[in-house]
Amino acid sequence: MANFTRREMFGLMGGIAGGCAVTALAGPALAADAAKAPAGPEGRFVQTGGDFSWKPKPIDAGTCVDVAHAGFWHKGYGCGYGVLYSIVGLMGEKYGAPYKDFPFSMMEFGKSGISEWGGTCGALLGGAATLALFYPRAKRDAMIFELFRWYETTALPIYAPKPGTTKVEGPLPSSVSDSILCHVSVGKWCAASKFDARSTERSERCARITADVAKKTLEIIQAEMAGAFKPVLQKSEVAEKCTAKGCHGENLKEWKHSGLKGKMDCTPCHTGSNAVQDKRQDHF
Ligand code: HEC
Repeated sequence: MANFTRREMFGLMGGIAGGCAVTALAGPALAADAAKAPAGPEGRFVQTGGDFSWKPKPIDAGTCVDVAHAGFWHKGYGCGYGVLYSIVGLMGEKYGAPYKDFPFSMMEFGKSGISEWGGTCGALLGGAATLALFYPRAKRDAMIFELFRWYETTALPIYAPKPGTTKVEGPLPSSVSDSILCHVSVGKWCAASKFDARSTERSERCARITADVAKKTLEIIQAEMAGAFKPVLQKSEVAEKCTAKGCHGENLKEWKHSGLKGKMDCTPCHTGSNAVQDKRQDHF
């Protein structure tokens, strides 16, 4: 009885009757039936098709990366839009509904680590959102881990646009971000390449990373479609030591060291490197 909630009761009663008085009458048999009945929060409507009902369909990987790169530049919609459109949009183009009904332009908000906040790289946001469109948490978390950890550890960009298709032709420098954050990733690339963060070269670098992230996301989806996706990457050594086996992980009992959330590599922020010293001394 303890787990028999109003939500389940609303599901059972078709969302019309419910509340504490009715709940009190429910027995274990009814509870079992109610658990099977689909319901939204508090017995409200169920999303079309039910939870996680969209299934991915095959698309061409070569076209996907070109579309992701072009999607970054399209109306300036940027990285999050580029990644999601290059996968779900191509499914829409080839197979129609439901994929074509996704409101793709909403993904513009991912630009520059969510609307210029420099948080999680918008390309990764687009990749994670694409995976979340098809897979529930039990499958998705390992997929997102693989995507994010690959991004932390890989020298990017890799993608080379076809001549005549972009604003900055030819090779660009690449760098390893050690971080999923737009701010850190762009910052390290600018330090390594000597291009300004507002330069067209930097935008082109992010357009190419949009293609790289789309490719990786599609590979994960294709692996799952072909059988079962198997993650290969591990947490950074420091993140593993400091959280899973260390003082700041889930086994922690004491508040003072904090059982923190996070799979990020801890190094960029907690090593005290030159870039993260107290630069505000002598500023204001
Ligand atoms: C993007 C930068 C960043 C990353 C990556 C990061 N941290 Fe932090 N962490 C911070 C900041 C900023 C604070 C708050 C510091 C403060 O209170 O002055 C913090 C706080 C903490 C604290 C609390 C410190 C205290 O004073 O109680 C712990 C513990 C910690 N982080 C551990 C970790 C571990 C372990 C990882 C890797 C799994 C990690 N952090 C990754 C930036 C980061």
